[in-house]
Amino acid sequence: MYNPRVLVLVALLLGYADSFSWDIVVGLSKGLAFYHNGTLTHTEKIPSAEYIVSLTYDPVHYRVLFADKTISKMEISSFNLTTRKIQRLVTTISSEYYLRIVFDPATQLLFWKDASYIFSYSLNRTINEVDYGKTLISLKHYCNDIALDSCGGFIYWITNYQIERARLDGSGREVLINSFVHERRSLVIDQHTQKLYWTETTQVNGVKQLSLESADFDGKNRATLYTERNASLASSLAVSKDSIYWQKNSLVSIWRSQKNQSQRVPIKEYSKAGSSCWYCHHIVANYTIEEQTQGVKNCDRLQRFIPYNSKPESTVSISQTYCLNGNYSVTAEGQSKCSCKPGYSGERCELDACYQYCLNDGVCSLNMKSEPVCRCTEEYKGGRCEVPAFLMKCMQTVSLLKDMLNADVTSATRELGLQSTCDSTVF
Ligand SMILES: *[C@@H]1O[C@H](CO)[C@@H](O)[C@H](O)[C@H]1NC(C)=O
Ligand SMILES: *[C@@H]1O[C@H](CO)[C@@H](O)[C@H](O)[C@H]1NC(C)=O
Ligand SMILES: *[C@@H]1O[C@H](CO)[C@@H](O)[C@H](O)[C@H]1NC(C)=O
Ligand SMILES: *[C@@H]1O[C@H](CO)[C@@H](O)[C@H](O)[C@H]1NC(C)=O
Ligand SMILES: *[C@@H]1O[C@H](CO)[C@@H](O)[C@H](O)[C@H]1NC(C)=O
Ligand SMILES: *[C@@H]1O[C@H](CO)[C@@H](O)[C@H](O)[C@H]1NC(C)=O
Ligand SMILES: *[C@@H]1O[C@H](CO)[C@@H](O)[C@H](O)[C@H]1NC(C)=O
Repeated sequence: MYNPRVLVLVALLLGYADSFSWDIVVGLSKGLAFYHNGTLTHTEKIPSAEYIVSLTYDPVHYRVLFADKTISKMEISSFNLTTRKIQRLVTTISSEYYLRIVFDPATQLLFWKDASYIFSYSLNRTINEVDYGKTLISLKHYCNDIALDSCGGFIYWITNYQIERARLDGSGREVLINSFVHERRSLVIDQHTQKLYWTETTQVNGVKQLSLESADFDGKNRATLYTERNASLASSLAVSKDSIYWQKNSLVSIWRSQKNQSQRVPIKEYSKAGSSCWYCHHIVANYTIEEQTQGVKNCDRLQRFIPYNSKPESTVSISQTYCLNGNYSVTAEGQSKCSCKPGYSGERCELDACYQYCLNDGVCSLNMKSEPVCRCTEEYKGGRCEVPAFLMKCMQTVSLLKDMLNADVTSATRELGLQSTCDSTVF
């Protein structure tokens, strides 16, 4: 038997005395509740909050971000899980209650959605100011949820009509699933299985059926993981290493299912009246970057945040894991050093030269000198496909006309044969 006093002392020395385990965090109207294996392990009261409507987890900075809704505003704050300090990040004007936030730790971009727009906001600048964010996507149908693929750099969203995605700058928008259902509510992304998961409600002869659906990131290989007849809407979905969690609003209960089987187990059923919140996105799961990206190719964007000493297998040496895309060596001073493969740079070869280099659907490849080069679509030109082709012609015309300053402008344009393709406003 260990002496419990010694154990307490060891715990204090290690600084664990005050820590708690959690698999999921559940948003309450004025607080956060942490659960481990179905048991409440910690409650964090947030007295300044009016109504917490959405949560998202940032495993890189080990914090939970939450959106607090008042009558006319939404405030997004972070709860640092190490220090348990709350920091206000951004305040925005919004009358919409059914809000949802997601965060990309790789670019420090925060996204939120209201009924018909998706906004983005960079946390990499002065914070604590009222800001409307940048309008990224404008939607025809009511937006129910958004999700983020940090590895690929895409934002996804769902409506009752479609599932769509676009790059994090709003470009390259495409429809992945195109079918109408009664209600398509929550969407999450899992890097480990490379799947999208969402919930749908269909209505047959007046009886609602809830289903948990999945598909590849491109919308292919659709599958139904679980169905439940006469069930109410799943208002929130979360994913972790092995499990999918969902929250049902009429019962205000949380359920868990293994990712690969349809069996489900109840986690928590709240009996308290008044905790129901149909528009809330209320659960997020503990899912470390290591777990999310283990064995996943092309995820340097997230993998570069994994501290190399946190690898669980002690048999895996630094030399095998330190350099993400290159060879490891040790300098005379005993410092770790990487020689990167062509197309990669950075201390740990974590920066991919092609990453988000070509715009407007241009295809990136490396030239002989390992520099990124773009193959543009017909509509775009320029080193990074940044100039619409028609504009390029006009720009060439303008510069040629400038060169021929003394020439007769009419004969010059006729000679070039381009005036009809050029919008006169460009001049
Ligand atoms: C989060 O999950 C990881 C991996 O499952 C686990 O090692 C860690 O203890 C969990 N964190 C907490 C605070 O429970
Ligand atoms: C989780 O809880 C279940 C039942 O509440 C229990 O049987 C199981 O041993 C627990 N697992 C862990 C790892 O604590
Ligand atoms: C959380 O607190 C720790 C300890 O003070 C700090 O190192 C870390 O940067 C904080 N995280 C964020 C995201 O502010
Ligand atoms: C954040 O801002 C700093 C200073 O402007 C810049 O050096 C850095 O590259 C930015 N990081 C990102 C991820 O945009
Ligand atoms: C559906 O569920 C409600 C409430 O649980 C119940 O009253 C009703 O009878 C059920 N309807 C069907 C068709 O099973
Ligand atoms: C489901 O996945 C777990 C590990 O995540 C594995 O142990 C189990 O065999 C799998 N079950 C099925 C039915 O594939
Ligand atoms: C890494 O090591 C392998 C085997 O020694 C070698 O073939 C390769 O050229 C090296 N790559 C770099 C970028 O140094």
